[in-house]
Amino acid sequence: MALTPSYITEEHEMLRQAARDFAQKEIAPIAAEHDESGEFPLATIRKMGQMGFMGIEVPEDYGGAGMDTLAYVLALEEICKADAAHGTVMSVNNSLFCHGIMKFGTEEQKQKYVRGVATGEKIGAYSLTEPMSGSDAATMRSRAVKDGDHYVINGRKSWVTSAPVADYVLLFTMTDPDKGAKGISAFLIDTDQPGFTRGKAEPKLGIRASATSEIVFDNYRAPAGSLLGSEGDGFKIAMTVLDAGRIGIASQALGIAEAAYEASVSYVREREAFGAKIGEFQGTSFKIADMKTRIEAARGLIHTAALAKEHSKDSGERYTLEASMAKLFASETAMFCAHHAVQIHGGMGYSKELPVERYFRDAKITEIYEGTSEIQRMVIARMETGLR
Ligand code: CAA
Repeated sequence: MALTPSYITEEHEMLRQAARDFAQKEIAPIAAEHDESGEFPLATIRKMGQMGFMGIEVPEDYGGAGMDTLAYVLALEEICKADAAHGTVMSVNNSLFCHGIMKFGTEEQKQKYVRGVATGEKIGAYSLTEPMSGSDAATMRSRAVKDGDHYVINGRKSWVTSAPVADYVLLFTMTDPDKGAKGISAFLIDTDQPGFTRGKAEPKLGIRASATSEIVFDNYRAPAGSLLGSEGDGFKIAMTVLDAGRIGIASQALGIAEAAYEASVSYVREREAFGAKIGEFQGTSFKIADMKTRIEAARGLIHTAALAKEHSKDSGERYTLEASMAKLFASETAMFCAHHAVQIHGGMGYSKELPVERYFRDAKITEIYEGTSEIQRMVIARMETGLR
């Protein structure tokens, strides 16, 4: 973008440049190989932790970089421009795991769970979805039953990002089924304890190097001290944390959209047909114009959401609307740009020789996880009309 908004400071720019350099030098060269094999890129994830990218908003006292939400979205966008799968892991560690504990955790919980994840030595996961409970998240069937100073957890959770490699899981499960959403509680799970098992990694269309699986609880005994917040707070914690997560997914989508766009601009300047550069044909140039315009609009919504989240730290006001609008628009922009990028590249866009087809596959998940586009539209409309 030609104009740098005044809210972007020199410190933000330095972080953005560091993320860009790291992403282009260390991630871009291995992205295709990990996409093909589906192997989790543990070595680069660890390095990203050392760079401070796994806990950007976590205070330095807890192992993080101590920066703000704008810093987080700028860095995540750069990582995702190189590889969305690395960005998925970064996003969960930052905005679903560390953010949830920093916001709702006790001092003891922060000390135990945040440092390792913020430094990239440990991997965190967030688990809300179940095989029969996705968008309608309050209908979960897993249960936690109090037994003295423990809770005994049973049930099956699905589509858990990073589950195959996670050290800790922020888990949402039902402690009082009669109360519906108000009967859900949040727990911090240590995956090395008995009663926790991981399912097989899901074979996915895109973000293939990020690992996703089911997790199963079979009489897992969670100490009472691992309850996050109070009993019954779980649904609100899940939704509050997803507001932050959705800003991250919007930034991921923006990174994918930009990668698809930049590849397209280079290609239309070089590729010739009918005696002209293909970018000179209106059918191509209008695609470029539409991609660029949507990218900048998505960026504006993401920055507004990041600033709204910063504001909420003092005001306590929710930024649900801003987060959902950013996620909705940016994810549809990623799909729009990746779709056009494949079309512009023709056969080469369909070939694994270029990363364009990967952008297309990776873009799709941003319209699905952390709330589908339909759920985002529902949230936005409910907030605006007050109707349900
Ligand atoms: N912040 C704080 N509180 C919130 C909230 C938010 N953003 N959204 C809702 N709440 C509160 C409500 O105020 C309400 O509280 P009160 O009863 O005290 O008023 C309570 O939560 C219940 O709210 P609703 O009645 O609106 O709940 P609902 O059952 O109608 O569901 C929903 C709302 C928006 C559809 C929600 O279920 C939702 O977001 N669904 C999508 C779930 C989702 O995003 N899943 C993805 C999981 S993570 C993932 O993708 C995998 C991964 O590994 C990353």
